[in-house]
This record gives sequence, structure tokens and C-alpha cells, in this order.
Amino acid sequence: MSEAQLKPLGELVRSREPGCGLPGEVFSRQDVFDTDVDIFFQKHWIVVGVTADVPEPGDVSVVDIGKASVIIVRDDDEGIRAYRNVCRHRGARLKEAGKSTVGMLVCPYHQWTYDLDGALRHTKYMGKDFDATCRNLLPVHLKVVGTHVFVCFADEPPADIATLEETMAPRFAPYGLQNTRIAFESEIVEDGNWKLVMENNRECYHCEAGHPELTMSFVAESTGSSADDMDEESSQALDAYNKLNADCQKDWESQGLLCTAVEALSGDVATHFRTQRLVIAGHGESQTMDTKVACQKLLGDSTRRDLGDTHMWTHNSWTHVMSDHAMISWIIPLTPEKTLVRTKWLVHADAVEGVDYDVKKLTEVWVATNAQDASLVAINHRGAQDPGYIPGPYSPITETYVDQFVDWYGARLKAHGV
Ligand code: FES
Ligand code: FE
Repeated sequence: MSEAQLKPLGELVRSREPGCGLPGEVFSRQDVFDTDVDIFFQKHWIVVGVTADVPEPGDVSVVDIGKASVIIVRDDDEGIRAYRNVCRHRGARLKEAGKSTVGMLVCPYHQWTYDLDGALRHTKYMGKDFDATCRNLLPVHLKVVGTHVFVCFADEPPADIATLEETMAPRFAPYGLQNTRIAFESEIVEDGNWKLVMENNRECYHCEAGHPELTMSFVAESTGSSADDMDEESSQALDAYNKLNADCQKDWESQGLLCTAVEALSGDVATHFRTQRLVIAGHGESQTMDTKVACQKLLGDSTRRDLGDTHMWTHNSWTHVMSDHAMISWIIPLTPEKTLVRTKWLVHADAVEGVDYDVKKLTEVWVATNAQDASLVAINHRGAQDPGYIPGPYSPITETYVDQFVDWYGARLKAHGV
């Protein structure tokens, strides 16, 4: 089909049957991908890192997103800053994607040299009338919440990041997440469109069959919802979960630990997020195979191991913070059918590998879960490209958040004139 014959994206999304998935072409078309990157990864706040990516002054982490690239740097005052990775001379990339440590940011082309505060400090042969002060690096909007580094490339970023910050900062505070280090990190390039990666993350319908490791600690009902027509088995499982949740919540709330669900998922909000302190099955401590903590040195100054799982979803990330470690994943779309999933496991900055924790025990649940999800996303993407694919209905019990994600996607396209 020529581009002229393709249905406009907005029309395609808005013609979806209520409660059903999106048509396959929104996952494969290059023009849709370009629009998605522009709207959802340039004009909305996205997670691109954690503070432990740049622990010391001069530490740099560069992240490429579509045609844009951002330099995250820890400055000499220990603050975190973000700049466009574009030299103010003739536009060369200052740094390649990845991490490094620098004294100053030196352009590899003609060596224009910038301080960590973005100021242009040295140039040669620019003449005596050259005004360096108007050639500083261009800042990118940045917000650190807990340990999450959010950036937004828009000139005027969505103001409702304030709601996320007000909600999450007190929930993350007891864990001292900026006093952490990366115990392990992984990168997977999944063979699927970014929306399918997120859809997969927004439901646990697939968990029972697909995630034997995760379901040791994860109570699937915790991110489902009730429906009038639930079958007996589902209804009993939900009742049991609700009782366990109520007991845990009462206990946590008596200690001042915030638990209740907060959702900002509707199409009216630009900054899409959800949080809740979720119960952990078994011993109730951590997302490990035996449901006990993997790191003996707990996060923050807590002495209590059964703090549940403070989760946070955004439109490009998912986070689980437990008493002993945090697991944070975020995505970057690479092409219509390839999505980078980055995951970091954080432990207390003073925790020592081999003494306080064992990396395998710390990571095995989510290493397995991420690999399983990558396979599921790949078969979903391939099948959804089949000419015979007709989107089917979401489960009203376990896929309501997928439906909401797709609704939000459509509403945000519309808000941006698509
Ligand atoms: Fe950077 Fe010339 S492009 S110094
Ligand atoms: Fe999964």
C-alpha cells in the first residue's frame, strides 16, 4: 500500500472496537512509529535512567531516543543535569550512547569544550567578536523522582509530572533510593513494537502460565479488577487477595507506610502512572524465588523486611521497590518492530556482593521474567502482523489496564492533533 492509501493513525485508533485491541498495522507502520516517538518519547516525560547511572561528578550517561539524544551528567555540585547531545558549533554528537566519566564535555570534531554546567568554556579560532555565552549546551527538562531520571524534550513539558512527583516522592522516601548502586543491569532488544511491550506489562493474564518464577512472589490478582461475571475460581482468588491485602494495608498504614492505589491513567493526563503497595506472596518479603529478601542490607534505614512491593508504572517504565532492592525497567523504541528494554537492580550503596547479597538470587526472578516477556511480545507482534489478525476482546477481569493504556494512547494522539 502506498503511503497515500494508508488510513490515518487517529482514525485507525479511534475505530477500534471498544474493549478490543488495536489493528495490527499500528504496530508495524513506519509513519506510526515516527509519530509515536515524536509524541510519546519527545513530548511526554519518559524515564531514561536512575541516579546511580551517574554516581559521581563528571559521570555521564547518554541515551539515544529516535533522532534525539540526551546527555545526563552529574555536575560538580552533585546535581544531575540533562543536555541535548548536540554541539553548538556544527551539531556533532558530543558523546556516543552509554556511560563515561569526563572532566569537561569536549566535542570530538573541533574541540569546543563545555563545562558540566553546560557553559561553553573553550573554543579556538572563533575570532574576537565571538560570544561564547550564547552557545551553551541546550538543556533538556529533567526531573528526578526517587531515583528515576525523567526527561522531556518538549519546550513546555507536561506540568502534571507534579502529580507523579507529589505521589511518588513520599512513597519512595523511606527507601533512600538515591543512596543505592546498580548491582546488575540488563538490556534486551525485544522483537516487538513498544506498545505491545507496554500492553504485555499491563496485564498478568499471562503470568500463571508464562512466569513460574515471578508468580512465586507475585499475586496476580493485585493488578486485576473485579467484574460481575467472574467465575467461581477467579472470585475466590480475588477474595483471598483482598483479605490479605486488607490485613497488610492495616499493618503498613499503622507504620505510616503509604499503600493505597493511585491511578492517573485517563486520557486527560499527559503523565500516565499508577502506584500501589502490593502484597508479596509466601514470606512476603521480596520478588525472589523463596520470597525472602535477597540482600541482607535493606534499603534506607528500614529494619523491616515485609514492606511489600511499591510499584510504579509509567507509559515507558515499570518499577518494583521492596525492602531489600529495587527493580526498574524502562523501554526505548528502536524501530516499529524492535524495542530496547533496560533493567537495573538497585541495592543499598553499602551492600557488598557476596557478603550481603548474591547476584543470582537477586536477579533470577526478573531475568527469567524479562526473557519470558520478550518471547511473548515477539509472538504477539508476529501474529498481529498476520493478514488474518482480527483484534479480539480484552479480559474485563485481568486486562482492564491494557484497555486503559490503549485508551490513553488514543487520547494523547488526539491531544496532539493526530
Ligand atoms: Fe563540535 Fe565543531 S561540531 S566543535
Ligand atoms: Fe509478563
